[in-house]
Amino acid sequence: MCGIVGIVGKLNACKSALNVLKNLEYRGYDSAGLAFLQKNHLNTIKALGKLNELKSKFEILEEGIKDVSIAIGHTRWATHGKVILENTHPILSKNVAVVHNGIIENHDQIRLELKEKDVIFETTTDTEVIPHLLSISMKNTQNFFDACVSVVNKIEGAYAFAAIHSLNEEIFVARQTSPLVIGIGNEYNIVGSDAQSISQMVDEVIYLNDGDYAILNKTQIQIYDSDNKKVEREKINIQSNLNFLNKDGFKHFMEKEIHEQPNVLINTIGSLIRDENDLNIFPEKMNIQKNCGITICAAGTSYYAAMVGKYWIEKFSSIPVNVELSSEYRYRSPASEMYSCMIVISQSGESIDTLMAMREAKKLNLKTMAITNVEHSSIDREADYSIYTHVGPEVGVASTKSFTSQLIVLLSIAMKIGMYNKKITTEKCQDFIQNLKLVPNFLSKILSLNKEFINLAQAIKNSRNILYLGRGVLYPLALEGALKLKELSYIHSEGFAAGEMKHGPIALIEEGLPIIMFLTSDGMEEKSISNLQEAIARGGKVFLISDQKNINKISFIDNKVLIPSFQETWNDVFSPIFMSIPAQLIAYHVARERGTDIDQPRNLAKSVTVE
Ligand code: M6R
Repeated sequence: MCGIVGIVGKLNACKSALNVLKNLEYRGYDSAGLAFLQKNHLNTIKALGKLNELKSKFEILEEGIKDVSIAIGHTRWATHGKVILENTHPILSKNVAVVHNGIIENHDQIRLELKEKDVIFETTTDTEVIPHLLSISMKNTQNFFDACVSVVNKIEGAYAFAAIHSLNEEIFVARQTSPLVIGIGNEYNIVGSDAQSISQMVDEVIYLNDGDYAILNKTQIQIYDSDNKKVEREKINIQSNLNFLNKDGFKHFMEKEIHEQPNVLINTIGSLIRDENDLNIFPEKMNIQKNCGITICAAGTSYYAAMVGKYWIEKFSSIPVNVELSSEYRYRSPASEMYSCMIVISQSGESIDTLMAMREAKKLNLKTMAITNVEHSSIDREADYSIYTHVGPEVGVASTKSFTSQLIVLLSIAMKIGMYNKKITTEKCQDFIQNLKLVPNFLSKILSLNKEFINLAQAIKNSRNILYLGRGVLYPLALEGALKLKELSYIHSEGFAAGEMKHGPIALIEEGLPIIMFLTSDGMEEKSISNLQEAIARGGKVFLISDQKNINKISFIDNKVLIPSFQETWNDVFSPIFMSIPAQLIAYHVARERGTDIDQPRNLAKSVTVE
């Protein structure tokens, strides 16, 4: 992960770099640093902890470095080497400084070679091989650009890095799999890990392709492809949307993002509806074929959305769906003949596991389709066909609105493929569309039960272990609820399919263990309620989230939150979308009670660009 920035040609470059780093903090926040040139001398400022620590150090020095016009910066999510000042980027060697995002996979080998040349390493990072290789190469070539190219030819892995040296005001950048964007300013140029982060400063950006490298000074940008050919890449206009940095009166971004779901999901739904009885989804572009299945790959919360998608697609279209963790798919030699399409789901569009799974699918001749929130992200640009979730930037590390929007897209895909496959009539689709339009308003009603989830959170906040249960389409919700809770509150929590409890996990139940169950009236509620009885009989303390329709069947349960029931035909179908709100609110309020860092939980980052 990590965020990188570089600016050349703009006065007070350190301050501008810091502003960009603020927008990149979602990529990692365990330490941060800047390197800059002043009178041909390379200086650094580094700090452990969040970016504010670096900002404080910068402010002390600001007056004396206002004339600086070239700087690179970094916000770190540690991969190799502990979170200590020595390992904080930029990493230097003699007159060269480097910031890096990704992993240099052959760094051990290079380290050995460099040690044989008496190079002394001062960090335990994989990154440090880059500045050392660079300074050695510069001694030989006397040319910064050539030296950088020789380093690119030597290192392996998934990376993006920016390098400067003390002789000239120029920045070298290279990208292999990890994202990197160049922004074109007026008499200055800039690089950043994403376009949004630099959008305050430029109107036009260039996305580097995989394997590209470039050299920029204040007026020129020269780009080369992986065959070392000079290339022109498309310039794209971008709109600055920095509204996302505003919490709108909420205490946390996550809280804002939970509560804005009714509003932003209107955009998701609006973009999916073509007219009263058709959806803006094109099965031909996905290469949907009779007797062929779909594989869906994703990670984390997006993977749980994929699991729900499987239930829906198989139910409405009878197309077989295989759901896989992206990180597993790539390395397991999957049999692909029976699949014609891979759908990848990624909020950020940058998760490297998912990007690599998609590339693997391409090699296997599958058509690829992306469901993503970020237009022009790496996954979007490489997919054959993309559908956007349109919920605006998600700042909180925990996925909230991106999950519900992914579910809405997946359900719409299931309906459209169902129509394409003649399993769903136009009337049914029309009815679906009518009801889909009611979802945002319905979510507002569930959100108005906030107080009840605060009470529930207070009841479980001191537990050491918590179980989540669900059946059918709500089984993935149990997994998602448990993930949300563990990442935000650091309470150990696990999700299980309710029917699976008796096959082992029931052994975990002891007196007072909180068990949260999501229940909808789907025809299986009796079975789920029996599973609850089994848990209660063993001392489990059940907290039930159910729709109103089940009220008579669950009178024996003391702790419950009843959410309203939706229109009969669609109530259980839409239930994963509805139950997402309780899952999010429970995790949010438990974390708030425990005082953890909700928007930036420990050890995590929003966009995971390392394997
Ligand atoms: O950007 P992506 O959807 O590819 O991210 C995948 C996961 O890293 C992500 O869903 C993660 O599990 C969530 N932030 C957890 O809330």
